[in-house]
Amino acid sequence: MSKFNVAVVGATGAVGREIVKILEERKFPIKDLVLLASERSAGETIFFKKKEFTVQEPNKNSFENINIALFSAGSTVSRKFAPIAVKTGAIVIDNSSAFRMDSHVPLIVPEVNPQSIMNHSGIIANPNCSTIQMVIALKPILDEVGINRIIVSTYQSVSGTGKSAIDELTEQSSQILNNKKTTRKVYPHQIAFNILPHIDVFEDNGYTKEEMKLIHETKKILGNNKIKITATAARVPVFYGHSESVYIETNNHISINKLKKIYLKTKGIKLVDDIENNKYPIAIMSEIYDDVMVGRLRKDLTEPNGISMWIVANNLRKGAALNAVQIAELLI
Ligand code: A2P
Repeated sequence: MSKFNVAVVGATGAVGREIVKILEERKFPIKDLVLLASERSAGETIFFKKKEFTVQEPNKNSFENINIALFSAGSTVSRKFAPIAVKTGAIVIDNSSAFRMDSHVPLIVPEVNPQSIMNHSGIIANPNCSTIQMVIALKPILDEVGINRIIVSTYQSVSGTGKSAIDELTEQSSQILNNKKTTRKVYPHQIAFNILPHIDVFEDNGYTKEEMKLIHETKKILGNNKIKITATAARVPVFYGHSESVYIETNNHISINKLKKIYLKTKGIKLVDDIENNKYPIAIMSEIYDDVMVGRLRKDLTEPNGISMWIVANNLRKGAALNAVQIAELLI
């Protein structure tokens, strides 16, 4: 097969729109494209290769003749329609958390564990955005000297929540700058000019689901259950780009110079680390670069094998849509 019928579920969302754009940018070999979203946007049109495509509401027949279905409409929609798509013969690449931890569902970052894709039985999961950028930065270190421990704090942009959160930050920023009372629908507190140490729901252990995703997904992708990981995930008033402060302890010693040399050679990573000229990864750079940006590399002052770094990536592209399309490329 040289061209494929592709469906995008959640095509009108923040990630879905990016998927459609990236399929075009990367010249994915598409025969027919089916764009699906909720009844709210059924009938809307989206351009792909200068042609208009009408958005439809999914039903049990939507996946007939579809070879690859890219889902990005949340867990409920994935749970309902992914099994139907698979039954009809499609391979599903799912951006929700619905199946990520299922043992028969590979969780793939093409730069890190492409070989795991072989074990799929119809569904392949796309990891959480904050996990993707971290494992890409950590994999070369893991391969070189091993990693014993990870402490990660995230600073995640509102686009990770979806288009309603982008609207909320825009509205609240304007309300505040115009001395008006803020209104909110998406987050439990004002997000404009604020930081919320709360992403997704709280679990019984006091961590949020987002923090637990980072912990479990990292171990699954790296194929290493022994790594000790703790995470704090925060939502910041940034539109695009997730930033992470990551501290690791390696099993064996590695110098910062050696690490920089490795990063300079690693596909998918852009080393931005020139503090004398104030160069380090910043969230707005993720609107320009698709690579995961790594900088502020420094040795811990108390732990000989401790290294700290700052990692930034575009959460909608490498953290979601681009990774999903790269999985599709790997598949074909
Ligand atoms: P819609 O735009 O019609 O609401 P985001 O994460 O940016 O909020 O986007 C979520 C995506 O998932 C949107 O495309 C949204 O469509 C879609 N979606 C939400 N609920 C459903 C549903 N029940 N069936 C299909 N698509 C859905």
